Amino acid sequence: MSSEQSSKKRVFSGIQPTGNIHIGNYLGAVRNWVIHQKEKENFFCIVDLHSLTVKQDPDELRRQTRSLAAILLASGIDPSASTLFIQSHVAAHAEGCWLLNCVTPIGWLQRMTQFKDKSVQQETISAALLDYPVLQAADIILYDAHEVPVGEDQKQHVELSRDIAQRFNHLYEHEFFVVPEPVIPKSAARVMGLDDPTAKMAKTYAHVRGHAVRLLDEPDEIMYVFKRAVTDSGREIRFSDDPERAGVNNLLEIYKAVTSKTPEEVERDFADARGYGDLKVRVAEVVIEMVNPIRERYKTLMEDPAKLDRLLAIGAEQAAAVSVPKLAEMKRIMGLVLPGESR
Ligand code: TYM
Repeated sequence: MSSEQSSKKRVFSGIQPTGNIHIGNYLGAVRNWVIHQKEKENFFCIVDLHSLTVKQDPDELRRQTRSLAAILLASGIDPSASTLFIQSHVAAHAEGCWLLNCVTPIGWLQRMTQFKDKSVQQETISAALLDYPVLQAADIILYDAHEVPVGEDQKQHVELSRDIAQRFNHLYEHEFFVVPEPVIPKSAARVMGLDDPTAKMAKTYAHVRGHAVRLLDEPDEIMYVFKRAVTDSGREIRFSDDPERAGVNNLLEIYKAVTSKTPEEVERDFADARGYGDLKVRVAEVVIEMVNPIRERYKTLMEDPAKLDRLLAIGAEQAAAVSVPKLAEMKRIMGLVLPGESR
């Protein structure tokens, strides 16, 4: 690691390869990783082990994992500034999860909103679904990450990672783990479903036409989805926290995030709009402009899967160079005998 790198704040974030990556993931997380990557030392992880907490089709999971790597690169993740890797390629994450399980009270996991939400959708709840945030804590704290840029929905998990790091430090060795901070964007921290603006835009439902705009969607599809977006019976184009007006607010939030304008500038842009129809078309247009180059770069990257695999192999090596020694130290602190250690 260069001395320049070591003086930078360390960032860790992750994304699941299952479902279709959509503009909520991009605006809430990935774009912020890209924007700040030169200022930080970054680890971005495709969390395939997290995806396995619910049953996956094996071939589809493999396909989606590679495809997500290409999407992240196409979105601007630069391998010379950021380490991009697949979680299961670095065994330290799963091992670290086990060790952290030993210091995590089960009540902390049962309280997690995502666990409660996801477990009602499953016939059989895997032990891994409950354990999900402990693996996430291992991801983050094995890298001594200071910052974890995520959307609003992951705030609770990052806060749990803080609690777990602090508990380990308290039980074993003061200040062994850096206590990470969630970094939530000011715009688009929670992009809502276009078919139901009271529910978060979710990868799991991104295959339902009208719910989400997926990063690889063609312009016609994006226009179609925005035109069908649920709004209300009014005409006023203003930001609002009135639940009745959540649809229009969501469209304005998306526009604000894409254009990086202030709320006042956004409202001014729509002062001459002729109703919600106009609003929908103009939001669609800025989104189309944003995703077009990503989709084109993605196509090129997918033409060379061997290159993609090489990049991911380098990423895994770089990630292991940080997390494997940290894990070994963690084991030593907890009283495990390290292989070859004579003391
Ligand atoms: P995942 O794969 O569900 O989502 C990836 C990122 O996208 C953000 N996000 C959103 N932001 C705004 N609006 C939305 N509608 C929206 N939907 C999703 C998420 O907040 C996230 O930042 N558990 C994590 C993955 C993970 C992780 C980690 C994250 C595993 N280990 C360590 C950070 C650090 C997840 O399932 O994200």
